Amino acid sequence: MSANDYFSIKIQQWYSENKRDLPWRHDNEPYRVWLSEIILQQTRVAYGESYFNTFTTTFPNVHLLAAASEEKVLKLWQGLGYYSRARNLHKTAILVANSMDGIFPTTYKDLLALPGVGPYTAAAISSICYHQPHAVVDANVYRVLSRFFGIKTPIDQHQSKKQFETLANDLLDANQPGNYNQAIMEFGAMQCTPKSPNCHQCILNQSCVARQTNKVSDYPYKEKNIKIKKRYFNYIVPLLPNNKTALIQRKEKDIWQHLYQFPLKESKSPLTAKNVSQQQQLPAWALSDELYLFNPKPWVHQLTHQHIYASFWIAPTAAVPHKSISTAKLTDYPVSRLIERFLHKFFD
Ligand code: ADE
Repeated sequence: MSANDYFSIKIQQWYSENKRDLPWRHDNEPYRVWLSEIILQQTRVAYGESYFNTFTTTFPNVHLLAAASEEKVLKLWQGLGYYSRARNLHKTAILVANSMDGIFPTTYKDLLALPGVGPYTAAAISSICYHQPHAVVDANVYRVLSRFFGIKTPIDQHQSKKQFETLANDLLDANQPGNYNQAIMEFGAMQCTPKSPNCHQCILNQSCVARQTNKVSDYPYKEKNIKIKKRYFNYIVPLLPNNKTALIQRKEKDIWQHLYQFPLKESKSPLTAKNVSQQQQLPAWALSDELYLFNPKPWVHQLTHQHIYASFWIAPTAAVPHKSISTAKLTDYPVSRLIERFLHKFFD
């Protein structure tokens, strides 16, 4: 038996004995599989399952999701991050519901044409729902394959993608591609975990290169050349008469597009209470003797490629040039996790 065959058989054996009972595994229905895979690109199963349940309870089918407002979809997505994924999810639902009679495409190529569906999701849906031989390559697959086969190509290097895709497709069990794909992802999520994998009790430990060379924590190799950008966000929180404040929607093509926030002034360095009014950095309506900085130490909100240093300026004021809303209604609006944290701390 070749190393490849051995790997495929073992991994599926492990899966049949250890797989979790997850709601989207019950029927392999394309709408539910698609929804689960989009959510699972953002988060781990343990956290994503409740989002999946909320989405499918609120929108049991693609027509109901398509008919929802984008705001409602963003609200249900709140906390998962990468909000463009939620907007693409909605766009795809509209496309499938209105132009495809509610039936998802059945081929890899046609699935790939849907908004927000990339090679990973197209491979997952086409293999799980339609038994087509397309191997998934996600972070789990990179980790499992690099360890087992001792692949040292840095996974954040462009050339690695092709190498891992080729190997993953060689390993794929063409008779049960959906089962094999789920097996390797589940194995990565539960057994061959990023930190402290339980190699001691692993069915593959005898032939795993990383394990045999005692180098498990070195894999997968990475170049680690990500540059992190620092940004300074100054939120100005209007306190209006009658328990009102104001949120505005982020329009620009940037993080958190279409989510709501307090009026924001971004600065090149942190603003201090002293230099705020001197340099007129905040809008005129905010500048009064009562203005104060809620968090003298900025909150650091870490995203993959940028760190946001957030300061919240509390501005009691009579009026703002934005639509005012009652503080009791704040939870109706989709907001970033950063703003959500502030709302809890300040208004609860
Ligand atoms: N991660 C993403 N998709 C998955 C799936 N279908 N099974 C297990 N883990 C996953």
